Amino acid sequence: MSYLVNAIGHVQLNVVNVEQLVTESTGILGLHVTRQSDDTVWLSSNGRQAELVLHRADENSVRSIGFESVSTEAVAEAASRVEEVGCRLISQKPTLDCCAAGMVFATPQGHTFEIHTPIADETYGRRHASTGVGPLHLDHVNILSPEPTETRAQFERIMGLKLSERMVDDGLSWMRGANRLHHLLGIVRGGTGLHHYSFELGEFADYCSLGDRLDTIDKQYVWGPGRHRPGDNTYAYYIDACGAMVECSGGMAMIHDDDRYEPNVITALTRPENVRVMNVWGTPAPADWLAHTFPWAKPAA
Ligand SMILES: [Fe+2]
Repeated sequence: MSYLVNAIGHVQLNVVNVEQLVTESTGILGLHVTRQSDDTVWLSSNGRQAELVLHRADENSVRSIGFESVSTEAVAEAASRVEEVGCRLISQKPTLDCCAAGMVFATPQGHTFEIHTPIADETYGRRHASTGVGPLHLDHVNILSPEPTETRAQFERIMGLKLSERMVDDGLSWMRGANRLHHLLGIVRGGTGLHHYSFELGEFADYCSLGDRLDTIDKQYVWGPGRHRPGDNTYAYYIDACGAMVECSGGMAMIHDDDRYEPNVITALTRPENVRVMNVWGTPAPADWLAHTFPWAKPAA
């Protein structure tokens, strides 16, 4: 087996004010609630039962990021590799009951990740009426790690992810899985945390709709719209109601010639040369985008 995971599976957050984030995620972004209890809300942008899962808590933090396996066997194979790279297996069961199989592990840097079989999906139930902009699906996350090359090695060994691109100092790197999107994961050097989670938009005009909807709640984009050079995707970012950064992206490059692809190495690390590496159209990343981090909950014992 080469790639053991295909795509991002889920983002689970601990949230103090669940209602506020649900209101924003449905009314502005355009997700819909698929399940709700006193303590937990499942949201999705399409026919999948869950993409964003919120847990009522006394802190705002990442609870886990899930990756969808290519098969049930891949979950077991990945679990067998966890300790080889210094990580710790927490559970051999999925945290979401819509997955047939799954496992959860923690890294020495303090991330909690899950690998699970694909979330139950209703193929012809993708669209839902909403006042929000209505993205297509969760497509990638960027995480922060104090030891980005170790984190990258964990993903290479445990999940079979491949490096698509990196900055020469490893301050940022991008990894792909079996779905061949340029990246389903970005790794940023920093304290352990989440930089952003991303939903793909269908049309460039959706950035206008989203910006206008954010304005109705007195919010604005942190950065964008623009087009990143790494991944070649369009983007715009805002901070969600619990303080995590959301990217909406579009048209990310696919790496079809996987066997002969050589990871690109970015050597322009300082401005002005670096500006158009990060935004083809030229607007520099603002300081609050560069400095953003959202905490990761302490891994379970
Ligand atoms: Fe991104």
